Amino acid sequence: MTVCSDLSLFAEGKVVDVARSLAPLPPVQHPRENPPSAAKISLGRELFFDARLSRNDRVSCASCHEPNKGFSNGGRFGKGIRDQRSTRNVPSLINVGYSHPLFWDGRSATLEEQALLPIQNAAEMDMPLEVLEKKLHGVAEYRRQFAQVFDGAVTAARIGQALAAFQRTIVSTDTPLDRYVGGDRTALTPRATKGMQLFFGRARCSICHKGPELTDNRFHNIGTVDPEIPDDSGRRAVTGRAEDQGAFRTPQLREVARTAPYMHSGKFQTLSEVVEHYNFGGVTDTANDHRDEILEVLYLSEDEVEDLVAFLREGLTSPDPPIANP
Ligand code: HEC
Ligand code: HEC
Repeated sequence: MTVCSDLSLFAEGKVVDVARSLAPLPPVQHPRENPPSAAKISLGRELFFDARLSRNDRVSCASCHEPNKGFSNGGRFGKGIRDQRSTRNVPSLINVGYSHPLFWDGRSATLEEQALLPIQNAAEMDMPLEVLEKKLHGVAEYRRQFAQVFDGAVTAARIGQALAAFQRTIVSTDTPLDRYVGGDRTALTPRATKGMQLFFGRARCSICHKGPELTDNRFHNIGTVDPEIPDDSGRRAVTGRAEDQGAFRTPQLREVARTAPYMHSGKFQTLSEVVEHYNFGGVTDTANDHRDEILEVLYLSEDEVEDLVAFLREGLTSPDPPIANP
């Protein structure tokens, strides 16, 4: 049976690009300027788990992006080298190679550039790049590996390249949805199948969580403005445009059951809370003039809410948690 024979299920309403959404996820693209190699990815992995990249040797990338918590940290916020609280939820790095631009507000263009920001951020790893270059140059094993991979010395730019190459291998491509799209019509439970139909149909999720990547990589205000962190203007801080107030990048959704809590503010603990939020049209008790007009009250029954949650929880979770390039 072909995937297309099922498309009528999703064709109702204004839903766009359904055929493309149900196409197989293409492999992650590595940029021409930073081609991957086994040695580079392996170096990137070592750097990712190495707390010496922080000023006081306490915090590595993996302290906040923990592999066994879906490369997030399971909490509302991250914790820096002096236990400072980050101002946003730690995003999962699963399938981050498909996301651009990076950060909730899109302020960084590439993974190569992004990697150097938490290293220098005083609230995270607090490590000036010149100090880091000297520190790693003092480690014989790193000197050897940088020479092997880059035919040169330890530099900040190369640290960024190795970390980026490694992160592009943190992938989830074997969820029940992927198997379903690949032609296995038994991959999703009946409940998750109903949820999928809602997702790509009446619940309108795939207007934004679209394409095989399940994201449009664009910015929307979906009513997650949080009274606890009222000054987070989101995308507006990057573009300066009033209409971007409270807009954040649409996240990809594979393995989302492993990465609670949710949203830039970590304000929802469960996927049911997330779906209920959408069911009520993304309305919050905080004043919000910029909510995306795509959102509307969905009138999903309690059963349908559960179907949608089943699709998110079972349909988008692969049997084994993604570990990067084992
Ligand atoms: C103290 C906790 C912490 C540490 C340490 C940390 N991060 Fe993050 N990371 C975050 C938070 C919080 C965000 C979201 C910030 C934002 O969007 O404004 C983030 C965002 C990211 C993103 C963007 C993901 C996306 O979907 O846009 C990437 C990639 C990333 N971090 C990689 C790294 C790497 C590589 C390191 C190590 C060099 C690292 N992080 C260290 C907390 C941390
Ligand atoms: C108007 C575009 C849009 C629509 C429609 C939409 N989303 Fe989202 N979604 C987003 C954005 C933007 C975020 C991040 C918002 C934030 O962090 O404040 C998000 C976040 C999420 C998250 C949290 C992911 C995480 O890692 O924190 C889930 C789960 C989710 N959406 C599921 C859905 C479902 C299910 C539907 C349909 C009922 C839906 N979305 C409809 C844009 C949209």
